[in-house]
Amino acid sequence: MVLNFYRPVEVFFGKGAVEKTGEVARRYGFKALIVTGKESARRSGALERVVKSLNSHGIQEYILYNEVIPNPTDRVVNEGAELAVKERVDFIIGLGGGSALDTAKAISIVSSNEGSVWDYVKYPEGARLAPYLSRPVICIPTTAGTGSEVDRYSVITNEIRKEKLVLPHSLNYPKVALIDPELTLTMSPELTAITGFDALTHALESLTNRAENFMAEECSVKAIELISKWLPVAVEEPDNYTAREKLAYASMLAGIAIDHLGVALIHAMEHPVSAHYPQVAHGLGLAILSPYITRFNYKGNPEKYALFARLMGYEERPELAVDALVDFLERIGLLRTLKDVGVEEDMLDRLTEDVYMLARHSFLINPVEPSLEDVRNLYQRAYEGSL
Ligand SMILES: [Fe+2]
Repeated sequence: MVLNFYRPVEVFFGKGAVEKTGEVARRYGFKALIVTGKESARRSGALERVVKSLNSHGIQEYILYNEVIPNPTDRVVNEGAELAVKERVDFIIGLGGGSALDTAKAISIVSSNEGSVWDYVKYPEGARLAPYLSRPVICIPTTAGTGSEVDRYSVITNEIRKEKLVLPHSLNYPKVALIDPELTLTMSPELTAITGFDALTHALESLTNRAENFMAEECSVKAIELISKWLPVAVEEPDNYTAREKLAYASMLAGIAIDHLGVALIHAMEHPVSAHYPQVAHGLGLAILSPYITRFNYKGNPEKYALFARLMGYEERPELAVDALVDFLERIGLLRTLKDVGVEEDMLDRLTEDVYMLARHSFLINPVEPSLEDVRNLYQRAYEGSL
């Protein structure tokens, strides 16, 4: 058995956890940068609750940076970092979905070191610079999927280069995660499905890839069990608090799992898709690619894929992992092709090239090591919908 364990994030989980913001923030100073999107945190009332909690603990000063966009870009991070430096903020609050949390964490790195965010993302050859400082970050997720509130990753897109890469440094952990399932109640069924499927893919890839860590794998197993049962419920009954609570927990577990075990080819092949087509949500890209890649992968780790099939409610046979995914995607309304979401067929060569240039380190960890031809072929199948 192999185990290593490093959890530097303090977690407060449960209904009302968001009310702890002020109390926690007091440890870090008196001036906050709140990083969030334009609309949803305001509309759901989450922003108001955060500000109220800060105020009631004597923190009157905050700067609102509400420029976060889905598939966040290096420009948004660099501008946020400039603001953090100019305004001399003491700490940063990330409030929103994965994009807001990833942006907040990356702003912390860039605003505390030299250069720009692209100096810190990890190419297969490594990052250009290593950070040596960061500002305290408090993450408050309003979706259940990313796991960013408990892991060291920020996924950032470079708009000019059309590259999507990960900043994975250990200084990129938030200090505190306030996970309040109530904040996820206002998600639409589609967003619930997309973000929940991201968490399921984290659990599936961490469980089946070649990395080993039995404690983290137990997190993956539990996450799959919970998502399989509760994601369809949350999609059908958005107001079901129990479903929201289970999914917030599952998403955190899956985040812990990938933090220790990493992901694999599904994520490696998704990132170029949403880098070139930012209108495609990360979780939707994963949903489209996962059945094809799972069909390719299951022979490389039959025992774990059989376990996945069983956890999804099927007989314990590895090939049934594919059926389990297809049926599940149909049930939550995400069964689509690359063609359906606007990917052009003549871009498939470029996407393949990008997987090699930007994510080839994931080939070795994938259950079956793919060739470039395999990757190209998998994109073609996902484009046509031929499983
Ligand atoms: Fe993901």
